[in-house]
Amino acid sequence: MPPTARMAYSQARMRLVQAGYQEEDAGRAARDLLAFCLDKDGLKLLLDFDDKLSQEEALGFIAAVGRLESHEPMAYITGKQDFGGLDIMVSPGVLIPRQDTMVLVEQALSRIREDEPVRILELGSGSGAVILALALARPLLQGLAVDVDPLAIRTAEENLRRFGVSQRIRLVQGSWFDEIDEHTTFDLILSNPPYISAAEMRGLPSSVKWEPEKALYGGQDGMDAYRAILPAAYQALAIDGCCLVEIGWKQGAAVRDVFAKAGFCKLEVFCDDGGRDRVVVGYRTGTRDSCMETKKTKYWKITYPGDPRLLEAGQMIRAGGLVAFPTETVYGLGANGLDDTAVGKIFTAKGRPADNPLILHVASLDGAKALAGNWDARAQSIAEKLWPGPLTMVVSAASHIPGNVRAGLDTVAIRYPSEPIALALIEAAGVPIAAPSANISGRPSPTKAEHVMEDLGGKIDLVIDGGPCKVGIESTIIDLSVDPPEILRPGSTTREALLSIVGEITDNERLMQADRSSSAPKAPGMKYRHYAPAAPVTILIGEPEAVAVYADRLMQGYSASAAALTGQGKPGFLLSEETWGMLHRDASQAIWADRMYYGCSMGSRAKPAEMGNRLYDALRESDKEGVGRIWAEACMVEGQGVAVMNRLIKASGGSMIRLRDNGEEWE
Ligand code: TXA
Ligand code: MG
Repeated sequence: MPPTARMAYSQARMRLVQAGYQEEDAGRAARDLLAFCLDKDGLKLLLDFDDKLSQEEALGFIAAVGRLESHEPMAYITGKQDFGGLDIMVSPGVLIPRQDTMVLVEQALSRIREDEPVRILELGSGSGAVILALALARPLLQGLAVDVDPLAIRTAEENLRRFGVSQRIRLVQGSWFDEIDEHTTFDLILSNPPYISAAEMRGLPSSVKWEPEKALYGGQDGMDAYRAILPAAYQALAIDGCCLVEIGWKQGAAVRDVFAKAGFCKLEVFCDDGGRDRVVVGYRTGTRDSCMETKKTKYWKITYPGDPRLLEAGQMIRAGGLVAFPTETVYGLGANGLDDTAVGKIFTAKGRPADNPLILHVASLDGAKALAGNWDARAQSIAEKLWPGPLTMVVSAASHIPGNVRAGLDTVAIRYPSEPIALALIEAAGVPIAAPSANISGRPSPTKAEHVMEDLGGKIDLVIDGGPCKVGIESTIIDLSVDPPEILRPGSTTREALLSIVGEITDNERLMQADRSSSAPKAPGMKYRHYAPAAPVTILIGEPEAVAVYADRLMQGYSASAAALTGQGKPGFLLSEETWGMLHRDASQAIWADRMYYGCSMGSRAKPAEMGNRLYDALRESDKEGVGRIWAEACMVEGQGVAVMNRLIKASGGSMIRLRDNGEEWE
């Protein structure tokens, strides 16, 4: 005798519990499946709960329950899945759209205006749920959706047709960019690619194993698809275009990194409702405002000054191009210093304010003298003793120096660097090279070629990779246009070294002040927010024991009050070797084990030069790791520590905590 709906439901629920479903899931699945088999909605099913099933209905339902027992996903049995309120058709063999993927849809929609036609590309479109949701919300959107799987393409075709958007979305079967015309550009590219690692594949719930492996498995570390897609996506994007990808919740930092390497900027990671990293977004560089043409940036690894490609690089500079190159301090962005059009490009590429003058780099003492209006005995003796090296002198300018190099001042800054590759490049160019640090204005200076690519990839002609910079902090600047001379920016050439040559130097109190607004400093560059990562920086001042106690407390309290402490991301700790050694072991191990925190050992407190050498890289790494707030340990303000503290104070905007020996804050 056929059962009532109620009986069929209870039996099914029992069978599902026996098959390993949680009570609650079993009840919901049994109810949903019964409603589907009887073609009733949930409410109607309840109203008719005591009606008898027909023989045919009863058999159909039992067969369907059997499929659920073997953990086949409900969506494959019913042939449909709800996605943000849309009834999406799915078939076995096609990935089932997940609710979490709505984060990708929402982030994409927030970047597409309703009244503007846009061209979008979806890579790995599966059932077509994502591009369908976008097309329905944005009537002027035109799209291309690519998937390798013919079955997915057919399913997507059907979904687009049912919602009447087939006209605007073209479907292409192929692997990533293989079938896409290389001359087509898009305003927005998005993808929910396979990103599950080999280790995670083994732990997947049994229902997921029904879904197609090629839509899930992202290679050994889960990152294969990002590495394949992102560089090509960058090339295929229009200027100002953006790329959005869904990620696994632990992949935020790693995927950001791949974005950065591909040349994207303005990188951001967005969370799902559970607070886990879910979507990474990056933009192609260049803005319409600046009318910057995007170029493909050449990247040459050059390890010795005799490399013949340096002659070619010198030619590029002489011809008006932009070439980033290593110096012993930081990477510089070089242009012909006697050509004001070439120099103008530096300001555009960096987004640098026009009132901030540049340093001219020379490869000989005579080269320096030729740029000065007046070369006095002080300049001569400093040059003889400290050049070539990390020191810049400001002197009165010769009349032929372009106005934009000087930012209208009647002085000029000159530096004779010691890095052999820099010297070979200047000689090859045959002109003084105007070069600020090769970063986007306001970002930490680059100490590795990859930092330059992150900021300026696509905007300049060439990056010369000569390895990490030896000093890692910008040159000391001494102003010799006044008497006694004044240090405008501390660097690794110390005040003591300069004093021993010139006898007297005016104290410059502004060097240790964060304030950028008051009276205009003499090195105009020092007034801007500088050396700053995305996350706010707080300096911890105290003995290593005290800093360790304080940091321990922050780390242990972190999980409990993460949001309050860090805004969004995890905390970052830039601490001395000594302090790391004193940290509570469990906490410091957690840093490395779970990447719950970002930590960097800045070297010994006794060696501020080491700290200076690592500082900018650590600040940039913090950004890549998704750090929401940085705590950095202070060093002594003497010798080379002066420069380190100057940069830290500017990066922190003056946010400091002074600690008593017991780790408590001073009032
Ligand atoms: O180590 C360095 O000096 C690096 C490498 C590439 O050589 N260059 C560098 O450049 O740090 P930049 O542009 O990031 O910083 C130059 C600083 C700015 O603060 C600027 O205001 C100052 O030098 N400056 C340039 N010309 C000046 C002048 N005539 N008078 C006063 N300050 C000047
Ligand atoms: Mg700079």
